[in-house]
Amino acid sequence: MPGGGPGELDSENPDEIMRQLVSGKLEVNCMSCHSADPAHDQAEYGVQVARQNLRWAAAATCGFASVSGSAARMPDTYDPLMPEPLDDPKLIPPSITYRKEAFDHRGQVFFDLVTKVPDKRCYFCHSNQDVYVFGAADCNNNTLDLWDGVPKWLSDEDVHLSSGMDCVSCHRNDLEHNIERGTWGPLSCEGCHIPQPPRAEWTWKVGTLGAPIPKHAGIPPVHFDKLTCTTCHSGIRPKHRTMRAKTSRAHALGIHSANKSPIALPHIIYPVFAEQEYGKIGPCKLIWPAFWGSMQGENVEPIAIEIVRQGAEMIAGKTLPRFGDWPSLSTERIAQDLAFASNSGAIEGRAVYVSGGKLYRLDDSGQLVIEDHPAAEPYLWPIAHYVRPAVQSLGVGGCGDCHSANSPFFFGDVEVDTPVTVEKGSAKKMVEFQNLNPTYTKLFAMSFVFRPFLKIVALCSCAIIGIVLLLYVLKAVLCITKAVVEKD
Ligand code: HEC
Ligand code: HEC
Ligand code: HEC
Ligand code: HEC
Ligand code: HEC
Ligand code: HEC
Repeated sequence: MPGGGPGELDSENPDEIMRQLVSGKLEVNCMSCHSADPAHDQAEYGVQVARQNLRWAAAATCGFASVSGSAARMPDTYDPLMPEPLDDPKLIPPSITYRKEAFDHRGQVFFDLVTKVPDKRCYFCHSNQDVYVFGAADCNNNTLDLWDGVPKWLSDEDVHLSSGMDCVSCHRNDLEHNIERGTWGPLSCEGCHIPQPPRAEWTWKVGTLGAPIPKHAGIPPVHFDKLTCTTCHSGIRPKHRTMRAKTSRAHALGIHSANKSPIALPHIIYPVFAEQEYGKIGPCKLIWPAFWGSMQGENVEPIAIEIVRQGAEMIAGKTLPRFGDWPSLSTERIAQDLAFASNSGAIEGRAVYVSGGKLYRLDDSGQLVIEDHPAAEPYLWPIAHYVRPAVQSLGVGGCGDCHSANSPFFFGDVEVDTPVTVEKGSAKKMVEFQNLNPTYTKLFAMSFVFRPFLKIVALCSCAIIGIVLLLYVLKAVLCITKAVVEKD
């Protein structure tokens, strides 16, 4: 995070208030975006936050300052503004050292501050890494059995960026910093690319920065009502099984302690073409929730992680190993743990486990019941990047890119991610996320097999009708000439 917001909350817990006097608050670090200094080090921000050096974190990211010590190890009574010598010589209080050469003879220092934020600042928090998973296919449609990150030299960037645009060419804001996401309005895909009748609330600026206006020849207009622009243009092209992605915000990429393994949790599955809130289908990332919860009536709440950890350590008898991936969980084990949790008295209501789209609970006779539940439904959010070059759009290869009996767009497998052993490797079909009728969609897709025949039949019929008409016209001409000749 750039700081601010939750970093500056006032606590009501007396212990936390004491700690906050020592650590300070995590204010917005304006430099996390506005610094053009190549020595700016955003990863250092994470290091300082882990040491609870919140007050010092922003300074530590600057090229000319370094921070040592740890507020986390200071006693509650430590006052950083009026520090007193500490009894324990091993305790190092947080402090800043400045690099002397950075200051001129008047003690002034150069801040390389820019309004036009460089892309690399945004990338620190908004990067994606594609990950191949078991059963996915490479660009030649060969099935891959590996878990692997897509190598950097095979990864592409958004066409807009490669043509010289910046993140802030589209994601703009004024002093309020309400950064434009671009789903709607003049800085959306439509805003730049599609001429619209003028709307009072938007100043349409079609063609901004030279945006080309697409012809979309032959694509029936129904598609622009039912699909977002990003459907055909954004993210990795769908394969017969979904891939996974790692993101900087979910996997702390770029932080020193980040787990670089391609299978590190959380498992983000993509691209999933799903119906959006406003009714259009668009590409999304997806997470299957997995948690131990308590159920009261139909309502399920996650159990606090500390309680889960304590319980797990009581069962496992030791500190749990820290894997990057899921541990394996058998249904017998789930049943045992649910019985343990219900008898422990540590939670209110009935103990449940949620994962892979299912809810696990014990019925009154102590048998494990596995059922669907809204709390187990996957969480999806729309993506927009990267925008592929136009020649890699869906639909370039013909309507069959989507309307064919095996197209990944409708009938691709969406991985169901879960630690439960019996459910491992299971999948759902893409069409289940699209609020469409699967049978109708399949039949409609198959109709495209016969479409070329239909076209030939129609053309032949036209030709025959044409010939027949022509014959009759000729006959008519003959009749008329005959009549004229007879009269004469
Ligand atoms: C998450 C990134 C980010 C952070 C953090 C951030 N800014 Fe900005 N700021 C931007 C962007 C993006 C713009 C718009 C740049 C453009 O239009 O080219 C901007 C614009 C501005 C502008 C110009 C506004 C205008 O209307 O011309 C000022 C002044 C500014 N920021 C000050 C600050 C200050 C002070 C802080 C710290 C409290 C801060 N910013 C933190 C991203 C950020
Ligand atoms: C230090 C980390 C950090 C930096 C740097 C940063 N962001 Fe963000 N950005 C975030 C976080 C955290 C959120 C999520 C806020 C939330 O969920 O409420 C966010 C949200 C966004 C969103 C909204 C996403 C959505 O799903 O609605 C956009 C767009 C965005 N940032 C673009 C940018 C751009 C462009 C830059 C560079 C100018 C930038 N960010 C720099 C951390 C960062
Ligand atoms: C050509 C314009 C354009 C450029 C350049 C651009 N974006 Fe976006 N971005 C968009 C639009 C439009 C959306 C939202 C589309 C939607 O919601 O349908 C978006 C969405 C996002 C989101 C939220 C959805 C997602 O895909 O995760 C993030 C985060 C984001 N952009 C970050 C960035 C960063 C970082 C850069 C620079 C490296 C960048 N964008 C460059 C237009 C752009
Ligand atoms: C059903 C799939 C589909 C949808 C939905 C779609 N496009 Fe396209 N788009 C294509 C194909 C295929 C091409 C390449 C052939 C062509 O230019 O017609 C293309 C080309 C383009 C181009 C390149 C034009 C050029 O001359 O270089 C742009 C820009 C574009 N689309 C923008 C959009 C925008 C904006 C939307 C949302 C309103 C959108 N597209 C929705 C399939 C789609
Ligand atoms: C701020 C205006 C702006 C926004 C917003 C924008 N684009 Fe573009 N887009 C451009 C410009 C400018 C180009 C031409 C880049 C170049 O010259 O190569 C372009 C090019 C394209 C192309 C053609 C690439 C090629 O192969 O020639 C596609 C496809 C495209 N945009 C799709 C999208 C999609 C999808 C979105 C929404 C996520 C979007 N654009 C949002 C300005 C925009
Ligand atoms: C990106 C995938 C995609 C591509 C490419 C695509 N379509 Fe579609 N098409 C859809 C979706 C999704 C629907 C909506 C289905 C529904 O509502 O039942 C649809 C609907 C239709 C419909 C209306 C069907 C109905 O039941 O209302 C027709 C006709 C159609 N497409 C024809 C075409 C033709 C012709 C092409 C090639 C030029 C094409 N489509 C390319 C995804 C696609």
